Amino acid sequence: MAPRKVFVKTYGCQMNVYDSERMTDSLAREGYTPTDRPDDADLVLINTCHIRERAAEKVYSELGRLRDMKAERAAEGRTMAIGVAGCVAQAEGEEIVRRAPAVDFVIGPQTYHRLPQALKRVSAGERVVETEYAVEDKFAHLPAPAKDAPKRGVSAFLTVQEGCDKFCTFCVVPYTRGSEVSRPVGQIVAEAERLVERGVREITLLGQNVNAWHGKGADGREWGLGELCHRLANIDGLERIRYTTSHPRDMDDSLIAAHRDLPELMPYLHLPVQSGSDRILKAMNRHHTAREYLDLIERIRTARPDIAMSGDFIVGFPGESEADFEATLGMVDAVGYASAFSFKYSTRPGTPGAELADQVPEAVKSERLQRLQTKLAEHQRRFAEGCVGKRIDLLLEKPGRHEGQIVGRSPWLQPVVVEARSSRIGDTIPVEIVRAVSNSLFAEAL
Ligand code: SAH
Ligand code: SF4
Ligand code: F3S
Repeated sequence: MAPRKVFVKTYGCQMNVYDSERMTDSLAREGYTPTDRPDDADLVLINTCHIRERAAEKVYSELGRLRDMKAERAAEGRTMAIGVAGCVAQAEGEEIVRRAPAVDFVIGPQTYHRLPQALKRVSAGERVVETEYAVEDKFAHLPAPAKDAPKRGVSAFLTVQEGCDKFCTFCVVPYTRGSEVSRPVGQIVAEAERLVERGVREITLLGQNVNAWHGKGADGREWGLGELCHRLANIDGLERIRYTTSHPRDMDDSLIAAHRDLPELMPYLHLPVQSGSDRILKAMNRHHTAREYLDLIERIRTARPDIAMSGDFIVGFPGESEADFEATLGMVDAVGYASAFSFKYSTRPGTPGAELADQVPEAVKSERLQRLQTKLAEHQRRFAEGCVGKRIDLLLEKPGRHEGQIVGRSPWLQPVVVEARSSRIGDTIPVEIVRAVSNSLFAEAL
C-alpha cells in the first residue's frame, strides 16, 4: 500500500479530541500517517462542533478553503478526499453534501468505526453519509491501536460516557450525541491499561455528563464514577485521574468521597452552573437552584478543601434581566472559581430556547459577557497568586518554550514551568511554586 497522509482538524470539546485520536488510530491501520499540512494530505478530516452558531458556520468556511485546495491538487493530477465528522455531521448530514459539493463523506460521532468502509466506498466513487445511530457499539468495533501506534504523550483522554438526557433548553448535545450511554468497566480498564503501557501517566475521563457514568463493577454491584476512579487508581503507573464534564445533579456521595480518599484523583472539578439566577436556571431546565449548587460545592470542599472549581456560564439567555445577570456575578464571587468558560447565548434551531420570546439584544449580551469575564479573570488571578509558595508534585509533560524548561500541570490544572532536564518528561517531581504570571505558574525543582 502506498503511504498516504491524513490531516485531521478538531473543533469543539475534549470528546471530539478523543474521537479524532481514535479515528487517527484506525486510519493508521489503513496506511495513513498524520500530517499537519492539509495541502499535503490525501485525506482531510474535519471533526466539527455544533454547540454555538459560530462554531457551525466555521465548518462551511473551512470547507470552502478545502474545496480550492482540492481543485489545486486535482490540477496536479492528485486526489484529496474530504470528510466531515463530529456534531455538525450528525446534525446536518445530507445538508453538508448539498451545500459543500467538495465533501466526499459525512460520518457521525456514533458511526466513525465505519470509517474504513466509508473510505472504500469513496474510492469507488460514492459520496457517503453515515449518520444513522449504529445499533452496534462503536467502541467494540474500533480496533485497539496497533503496537507501533504513535505515542500518546503523558496525559490522555478516555471517553467513558456519551450522550445526554438532560435537555437543557439552550443545548444541541442531546440531539447530536444521542441519549446517555456508559461504557462497560472492563472496556474502560483495558483501554486505560493500554494507555499506561504507551507511557500515559494521567488520564482524563470524558463524558458529556461524565458523572452520570454507571456500570456493573467487578464485585457485581452497580458502580458510579467514584468506584470507577478507585478501580483505575489500582493500575500500576497511572498517577493521576481527572474527569470532565460533570453535571451538578449527578454529583453523588461516592464521587465526593473519592475526592477525599483517592490521592490519584486530582483536586479540580469542572461543574458548570450556567447562571446564578433561579428563574433562569429553571428556564434553562437545569433542575437545581443556585442555593443547591452552592450547598453541593460546600460538601465537595469539606471532602477536599483545596479543590479548584471551574465552570461554564451563559449570558443573555432569553428573558435574562440585569438582576438575573447580577445573580450570576454573585455566584462567581460566592464560589471563587479557579478558571471558567463563559459564552453569549447562541440561539440553536431545534432547541426549546430558540422558540422563547424575549431574546436578549446582542449588545446587552456583549456588555454582560465582558463584565463577567473581567470578574472571572480576577478570581483566576487570585487563585493563581494563592498558589505561590506551595510545594506540589509536578507531572512533567512537554518541553517548554525556552531551552531547559519543562511544562507540567499543577494538581489544579494550571500550566507550570520549571527548569529541569528534558529527559525527565513523564516523571513526577516535587517543586515549589515561586511565581504566577497571567495564566502560568513558575516553579523551582526541590
Ligand atoms: N454537559 C455539560 C456542558 C456541555 S456543552 C453541562 O451540562 O454542563 C459546554 C458548554 O457550552 C455548556 O456548559 C454551556 O455553557 C455552553 N453552551 C451550550 N449551548 C450553548 C448555547 N446555545 N449558547 C451558548 N453557550 C452554550
Ligand atoms: Fe447540554 Fe445540558 Fe446536556 Fe450539558 S446537560 S450536554 S448543557 S443538555
Ligand atoms: Fe461541540 Fe459536539 Fe462537543 S457540539 S462541544 S463537539 S459534544
